[in-house]
Amino acid sequence: MEINWNTRYNTGIQLIDEQHKELFRIVELLRRSVQEGAERKVVEALLADLVASSERHFATEESYMSKFGYPDFMQHVSEHASMLTSLHELLVRFQESHQALALMVPTFMEGWLKHHISDGDFGFVTFLKARNLA
Ligand SMILES: [Fe+2]
Ligand SMILES: [Fe+2]
Repeated sequence: MEINWNTRYNTGIQLIDEQHKELFRIVELLRRSVQEGAERKVVEALLADLVASSERHFATEESYMSKFGYPDFMQHVSEHASMLTSLHELLVRFQESHQALALMVPTFMEGWLKHHISDGDFGFVTFLKARNLA
């Protein structure tokens, strides 16, 4: 099944929505590459892309939150940090054993993304909007 951005992930903050769409785009490419049995280096490159895009995206969100004094800033920052850690772990483990991990990648990624947007981001987006900051 394809992993696609959906309007229910819409935050209404343009830059954040664009970045989320980009993350979904990479995750779907990953899913497809794994399914089609792409070469290991192709999958590794996509995972590395995902790490880079996630780092950029988290930095954007953190600058919004800190600029507007979001009260749960530290909590959200630590969620970002643990997501990056799990992404890095996935990348390292993928380098060690391609086969076993390839099957896990799509499920992991889908949950990772949905969890991030649905459970994490809507908190600060609601905060910003309530104050007309976004
Ligand atoms: Fe986000
Ligand atoms: Fe976030």
